[in-house]
Amino acid sequence: MSEPRRRRVRYSGTHPRRYEEKYKELAADADPEFLAKVRARGMTPAGTHVPILLDELLSILSLRPGMRGVDATLGWGGHAEHVLAAIAPGGELLGLDVDPLELPRTLARLAARGHVEPALHARRTNYAALSSVLHELGWGDGIDFLYADLGLSSMQIDTPARGFSYKVDAPLDMRMNPARGRSAADYLATADPMDLARVLEENADEPRARTLAPLLARRRFATTHELARVIREALPERSADEDRTATIRRVFQAIRIEVNDEFAVLERLLQQLPAALRSGGRVAILSFHSGEDRRVKKALAAGARGGIYAEVGDEVIRPSGRERHANPRAAAAKLRWAARA
Ligand SMILES: C[S@@+](CC[C@H](N)C(=O)[O-])C[C@H]1O[C@@H](n2cnc3c(N)ncnc32)[C@H](O)[C@@H]1O
Repeated sequence: MSEPRRRRVRYSGTHPRRYEEKYKELAADADPEFLAKVRARGMTPAGTHVPILLDELLSILSLRPGMRGVDATLGWGGHAEHVLAAIAPGGELLGLDVDPLELPRTLARLAARGHVEPALHARRTNYAALSSVLHELGWGDGIDFLYADLGLSSMQIDTPARGFSYKVDAPLDMRMNPARGRSAADYLATADPMDLARVLEENADEPRARTLAPLLARRRFATTHELARVIREALPERSADEDRTATIRRVFQAIRIEVNDEFAVLERLLQQLPAALRSGGRVAILSFHSGEDRRVKKALAAGARGGIYAEVGDEVIRPSGRERHANPRAAAAKLRWAARA
């Protein structure tokens, strides 16, 4: 179904000043030619998300009409749209996402394309609640597949007010669900320096964790740029620009993982998979850094040894050079999968 054309945000002067002028999160429904041009430049138009390793994921899941499964991280619905097409007619997909801001937009967009109940169910919830959501939906007898595309969506990264990106100045929040838990600013304001050093090491392999932690802990940072400035200033003067940027990126990643408790919820999801999948059911998980991939690899390998999984992909699947070129955000992606015994 074609979407109505919407005009791009206009602004006066030579440069945009306000978020909604500067960033194109509202461009999701923009002129398709404009979106295609932005994508051809290897960029993701803000307000949209390009599904990563899509063909590989679809083939791993061996989808057939009538299947029932879960998208644990619905995001923009990029993977979900293709999965819905592959399981139609008669198939059912349950989409989960913690984000109360993006989920309604995604559901409205999917509904405009005809994806509604009973083919598509959605819950705003953490995937750590998988078992209870399945029971509540009457799917306690099992699902044919589950996939998760971990981390942040492009919409979350590109919406400055969410405070995920060091590239734009915004309140230091970083919560996927801003209605729950502590913001990154609150976390740092009370963080114990030793604990923060551990977080920087474990969540992002930060080599300067012990130097940086005492400078960042128990300190209130109002904005992303304030935090980025203190990290930058803490580095030796001779540091190369790429080194400074990489350090800032790692520190932001580590704090985001902590604030959203990402490793703990991933482990809870992995623990619930064996009971959730029917015999022959498939799981595919896309991760974006070593801490996630390690956990996925370990859980699937342990399941294979214990006879829970009949088959586990022996090699991690990475995006092709072509995909990485077309979508630089795919660069770090790793896909692992298994089939339930
Ligand atoms: C990389 S995006 C998914 C993109 C999606 N596959 C697509 O093609 O549009 C990850 C999404 O997972 C959500 N998410 C992250 N952790 C979650 C969790 N523990 N439970 C539920 N959703 C989560 C984020 O809010 C985000 O929308």
